[in-house]
Amino acid sequence: MPRVALIGLAELEPPCLKRIAIAGHAPVLLVASQGRYHVMDDTCGHGAASLADGELAGDEILCPHHRGGFDIRTGAATRPPCAQAQRRYEVTVEAGVLYIDIGAGDS
Ligand code: FES
Repeated sequence: MPRVALIGLAELEPPCLKRIAIAGHAPVLLVASQGRYHVMDDTCGHGAASLADGELAGDEILCPHHRGGFDIRTGAATRPPCAQAQRRYEVTVEAGVLYIDIGAGDS
């Protein structure tokens, strides 16, 4: 699938977590924090929770259901019961718009 436009930077008020729906694809979580943007699958690998409803703690996103965690920089699981990495996506910014390549998730 080609590159997908997620959102305009002007719509973000960092630090923030945002669940973004993509037609024909699972929703993704956008983390905007410390001048950086990270995107990974939004649905927690442990259950049906939306990570966008979780809590950002430094470079970690904590799941709202069982407080499992993932590293926003790598998608790696950081706290049980989460054990598998979240799929994450390379982010590019062009003309004030954030893009990800759905076909090139890196985990
Ligand atoms: S659903 Fe996320 S830790 Fe259980």
